[in-house]
Amino acid sequence: MSASTGICESGVKLDSTESQSSKDSPAHCAQKAVTAGSLSVRNLTVLLGKNGRSVPIVQSLSFDIKRAEMVALVGESGSGKSVTCRAIMGLLPGYMQRTGELFLGGAEIPQGRVSAQTAMVFQDPVGTLNPVRTIGFHLKEVLSLRRSIRGALAYARAVELLRQVGLREPERAMTLYPHQLSGGMNQRVGIALALAGNPSLLLADEPTSSLDTTTQAQIMDLLAKVREEAGLAILFVTHDLGLVSQRADRVIVMYGGQMVESGTPRDLFENPRHPYTAALIASLPRVGGEHGQLRSIPGKVPPPGEGPAFCRFADRCSRADETCHAIAPPWITIDPNHLARCHHAAR
Ligand SMILES: Nc1ncnc2c1ncn2[C@@H]1O[C@H](COP(=O)(O)OP(=O)(O)OP(=O)(O)O)[C@@H](O)[C@H]1O
Ligand code: SF4
Ligand SMILES: [Mg+2]
Repeated sequence: MSASTGICESGVKLDSTESQSSKDSPAHCAQKAVTAGSLSVRNLTVLLGKNGRSVPIVQSLSFDIKRAEMVALVGESGSGKSVTCRAIMGLLPGYMQRTGELFLGGAEIPQGRVSAQTAMVFQDPVGTLNPVRTIGFHLKEVLSLRRSIRGALAYARAVELLRQVGLREPERAMTLYPHQLSGGMNQRVGIALALAGNPSLLLADEPTSSLDTTTQAQIMDLLAKVREEAGLAILFVTHDLGLVSQRADRVIVMYGGQMVESGTPRDLFENPRHPYTAALIASLPRVGGEHGQLRSIPGKVPPPGEGPAFCRFADRCSRADETCHAIAPPWITIDPNHLARCHHAAR
């Protein structure tokens, strides 16, 4: 990257005159994105107000997602994946506050604003649908609110969206209620609703975790299709590392509210440099592996505001030494696309 203007990992142009560098940011994301690309997250921190004091739930995240790229966000329960999605979407509850900067297509998303170009797909689509309203009502409502499309045009667009997400009888589906559809069909409706607003960024928070394997594969195929057709950038939250290895372009590993490693699936599966990533991968069940116990990571993710002050993983890490308990780990560049935040990542 040149000293003044350069291209970030995501292809986003950077301008050092507006640099927002932080020691917490990966080196490739230490500057502010100022021109088109897709999502640029810079030093995103989410604070939770607690008994008159604030504790960080998510801390200094910086990453980019290009147009038509799928980036997976992984990490144990409680590591801050959903809060990250909600912060990007602008849907944090009032007692949480975000700092840092978000850019979509080069334009900054102001604090507290729900991004019109961002849509979210949830694990439980039925929970987000009104049980006494038809699928058609939901779609037409979104088309009216987000795109001012109404009447016959809205009906036609809604049918087209349902067809696009693979519902065989879209006209009939328009008249059905959420409880009349299967889990997989409701997830397709959830994706159609997300696409109705014509977003450029899709935040998919465990969209397939409640589905059987066949339906899961169909939904992943569908996400790949809309990503290509609409050039969508997708942040895909999952616990399923198998899906990550097959489907993601890049992976971000989170632990205790922080990013600890990022790279391609191949980088992380074949050459994990952060002990937490290595432990996550080692805990995967393997065909032909040892019988009996799965290899779990001892201990649990510290709650916000608790746990080790420097490396958040230090009290669970078999490689922890004095340095880890005294100095915050730096970002180590393994190669331009592979970074790990650990004192011993360089080996
Ligand atoms: N509304 C809330 N109020 C208080 N704390 C919250 C709230 N939502 C999340 N948290 C806390 O923030 C941390 C991160 O939660 P988050 O839901 O983002 O985790 P996650 O990585 O999505 O986990 P999972 O894989 O279980 O979905 C957790 O410690 C959680 O308890
Ligand atoms: S910095 Fe130290 S404690 Fe943290 S992951 Fe690396 S080796 Fe383990
Ligand atoms: Mg979650």
